[in-house]
Amino acid sequence: MMSPARYLTGITTTGTPHLGNYVGAIRPSVQASRRPGTENFYFLADYHALIKCDEPERIQRSTMEIAACWLAAGLDPDQVFFYRQSDIPEVTELTWMLTCVTGKGILNRAHAYKAQVDRNTAASVDVDTDVTAGLFMYPVLMAADILLYKAHKIPVGRDQIQHIEMARDMAQSFNHLYGEHLVLPEAAIDESVATLPGLDGRKMSKSYDNTIALFGAREQVKKQIFSIVTDSRAPGEPKDVEGSSLFQIYQAFASEEETAGLRRAYAEGIAWGDAKQLLFERIDREIGPMRERYQHLVAHPSELEDILQAGAAKARGRATPLMAELRHAVGLRNLGAQAGAAKKAKAKTAGPSFKQYREADGRFYFKLVDAQGRVLLQSKGFASPKEAGECVARLKATPESLDAGQFESLDGAGMAEVQAALRELTATGN
Ligand code: TRP
Repeated sequence: MMSPARYLTGITTTGTPHLGNYVGAIRPSVQASRRPGTENFYFLADYHALIKCDEPERIQRSTMEIAACWLAAGLDPDQVFFYRQSDIPEVTELTWMLTCVTGKGILNRAHAYKAQVDRNTAASVDVDTDVTAGLFMYPVLMAADILLYKAHKIPVGRDQIQHIEMARDMAQSFNHLYGEHLVLPEAAIDESVATLPGLDGRKMSKSYDNTIALFGAREQVKKQIFSIVTDSRAPGEPKDVEGSSLFQIYQAFASEEETAGLRRAYAEGIAWGDAKQLLFERIDREIGPMRERYQHLVAHPSELEDILQAGAAKARGRATPLMAELRHAVGLRNLGAQAGAAKKAKAKTAGPSFKQYREADGRFYFKLVDAQGRVLLQSKGFASPKEAGECVARLKATPESLDAGQFESLDGAGMAEVQAALRELTATGN
């Protein structure tokens, strides 16, 4: 059977998901997680959160809200790997191994770091102002997230493509030095997924403060929807769908038929208030049923914790064996096991052994040689390798059955020596 394609994506735990995150990431991911023949990894990137946020309460709250949102939106933790990054100690171990195969020059070019350096340069302050080593190492931690599970496809926004390419480079460097252990990942950009406009028409984003809450109270959501900016056309005047964020948000939830219906209503001069009411009802039809589950989970965080712990155990089922393999590959090894292995290898070559081969006459032969390669016993030719093999097996099982007459080069004096060699061979398991 073909091994499944593995998809992996992380969500930094610094905010509360809004409607734009739902349409752009959560909803498509939940749908994608049901594709047959795939394995899907979704994790809460809370180590990444530490890079840009030093408010513990906020990180805790965001972790809880994001976990609850994904589950409420229908992610089935039994079908996927759903876990918290910081529950997997292997991710920091791998981060260090990758750090040691990554050129500093590569990291100098990472966008997030470079943007800060550029800001500092523009402000004529020291280039390293506000640059933590964590910001600098961000792409390495992200590569570890990906490579730890041998993920193939990484669904991310365009701003993350560079990071995936860096992860690929790191995997390549590691494999070049230590053998083919890591899978080279690829970014997967879904062009069909809409970016949702916000209340003011710009892209819906926390940084513009123009978002609609995903699982806010219905009244709050309604209030936000009614504050979507529209033009000043009066009821009865035809409205433009072009450039109308209200229309675009509706489209992200509606069927084609419903969208065509609103387009007609615009042309017929629907009042903005009525259009907003339609939008609110359409969104609530999809989100409303999920809201209950969300509120339940947020009110029972220990249920969330149990789900994440189970997810961590499942993820570590993959991470732990890979790290053991990588530790061995780079030379971080159990010295005791190594000495044992050396001894065993020596014992194997030191004793007598059988060699089977075919001669030019087309017949099958074997010989018994001692540790120095001296021939102790030379067989006659057999018609098939099976017969030769059976004779070898008989000798190993019962050295006493050795019959000098059956062999080419066996004199009486050699008999005892051959029998001793056969017994030694049986004792060492050769
Ligand atoms: N850096 C990503 C973001 O800000 C989040 C993330 C962390 C991630 N690790 C990842 C995404 C691994 C994909 C794969 O969006």
